[in-house]
Amino acid sequence: MAARVGLVTRLPLCPQGRARFLGSLCRHLSHSGAAVLRREEATAVCAELDLQETTKKKTFSEMQKERREQAQRSILISCPKKIPEKKLLKHLCQHGDITNHFFFESFGLHAVIEFSKKESIASLQDASFIPRGETEFPIPFKSRFFHLNLKNPSNQTSDVQCSNQSSPLNANIIKALCNAESVENQINTLMKILQLTEENIRLRYLTCSLIEDIAAAYFPSCTIKPFGSSVNTFGKLGCDLDMFLDLDDIGKNSTTKTEGSFLMEYQVKNVPSERWATQKILGVIGECLDNFGPGCVSVQKILNARCPLVRFSHQASGFQCDLTANNRIAMKSSELLYIYGSLDSRVRALAFSVRCWARQQSLTSSIPGSWLTNFSLTIMVIFFLQKRSPPVIPSLDSLKNLADVKDKCIIDNNDCTFVSNLDRIKPSENTETVDTLLCQFFEYFGNFPFNKNSINIRKGKEQNKPDSSPIYIQNPFEISLNISRNVNESQLERFVHLARESAWILQENKGQSSKTSTEPWGLAALLLPSVPNKSKAKKAGRGQTSEAVKKLLESIKAESTKDPRATRKKTTISTQS
Ligand code: GTP
Ligand code: MG
Repeated sequence: MAARVGLVTRLPLCPQGRARFLGSLCRHLSHSGAAVLRREEATAVCAELDLQETTKKKTFSEMQKERREQAQRSILISCPKKIPEKKLLKHLCQHGDITNHFFFESFGLHAVIEFSKKESIASLQDASFIPRGETEFPIPFKSRFFHLNLKNPSNQTSDVQCSNQSSPLNANIIKALCNAESVENQINTLMKILQLTEENIRLRYLTCSLIEDIAAAYFPSCTIKPFGSSVNTFGKLGCDLDMFLDLDDIGKNSTTKTEGSFLMEYQVKNVPSERWATQKILGVIGECLDNFGPGCVSVQKILNARCPLVRFSHQASGFQCDLTANNRIAMKSSELLYIYGSLDSRVRALAFSVRCWARQQSLTSSIPGSWLTNFSLTIMVIFFLQKRSPPVIPSLDSLKNLADVKDKCIIDNNDCTFVSNLDRIKPSENTETVDTLLCQFFEYFGNFPFNKNSINIRKGKEQNKPDSSPIYIQNPFEISLNISRNVNESQLERFVHLARESAWILQENKGQSSKTSTEPWGLAALLLPSVPNKSKAKKAGRGQTSEAVKKLLESIKAESTKDPRATRKKTTISTQS
């Protein structure tokens, strides 16, 4: 009977599917004749269900609020290489209780310390000393980024464990995937390896909070919030940190008066346009970060871009940051993706595989150009999942129909209304496994009529293409815009070609596992560099990419000979051939 309960926990169901299954099991157990499970096992199953039913899923703004508050109680410390963890914590505890801490490496050892109260930070700041060298001059700004000086650093023994903040090497990812049991297992393994860790998310919010401290020196009520893949559930270790400078709260706090004797004198007078004001504000903050921002280097003010921004490296956290302002639609897009990513575990699993595949095949790049972006690819995954029968996720219009009054949102005349409460969205009836979906994704887009149809997640249906761009993905909120207008014909052709080839590889590899293959199989085979050049590489007989693949295969084979299972694997293969 224990085996039956074990089966429940191993069912490859999405959270909703699992909840439905547990629900029917509980109903079954409550019938008098169904005493097949031991009472305590039944209680455990029902308790899990109760937990799932009573744990309300957080809305995007609840999640952001909670994380921001956590970040405001946290500090960043640059530490010497050898640091006695217990002594450090004991010392910091003098200023208040510590609720969480971790260490990481980025241009040296750093620690994030979360106090239970904000006041502890003020106490630490008051107790910190300000260096006064001949070439240093203190500025009147108390930061939450500290530097720890130890009297005898070489005498210290280090006992800290560092949390990993960067994504593993591709070769290691492929090795991990080769050891998986099935393609489904590979897809979930890839997501687990690449997704942002709890510590990485905390560090992202803390970095925004530290930059907010600096911006608040000019604009005291401003907030800086992360958006994009840092918060939309699709972020991968090493992705950039998109920051949104929100000045709107300033207006909200003051009661709007249309008449009266007193007019407030504004710092920026006679603003010619909102864009001009955004450029000026970002210019001022960029200057401030460049001159005084602790840990901020390579500050670039890219103010003439379509969406003006300040780009910089936050050396202490290791993040490449893009600070924008007046960009509320992008924040709404992040919320929409958060909802889709939280609805069904298959959405993220599929998006991680597709995004990683696209990166490995150089279909996407960190440099802007005529290629697809991760954002476009994610929208394509969402569209594909809306198109399944039955759909895995609902259309944006369906999410709009579920919205209540407080969800109403119009930004620059664009309707950005959709439901924020995840519990109001009915779980999907679709039971397809994620490996089937991946293969179908490639087949679907390998044969999509890009020449006449556009991708539209608002309707969840393809529409006639309104212009002649090679690929048209309607912007979900600014509906007259194409988010993939930058993509040229040859990039689209490469995408289609690779999608077909990948669908073919997955079908050919069907049923393979680590037990039956000594070469990369399933998803691992798709992540090998340069699938498209396979035929070309064969003709050429050599080349950089084929060398890289060869080395990788050799290292995997070498690993597998160390493994006692390798003999079994070889036997299986020779009997098959
Ligand atoms: P990464 O590649 O992991 O950084 O993914 P990302 O989703 O963070 O993409 P990126 O940093 O390029 O952009 C940040 C956010 O800006 C996205 O998540 C979207 O919300 C928004 N965004 C990016 N590109 C576009 C676009 O072409 N149109 C619109 N409307 N929004 C975009
Ligand atoms: Mg980003």
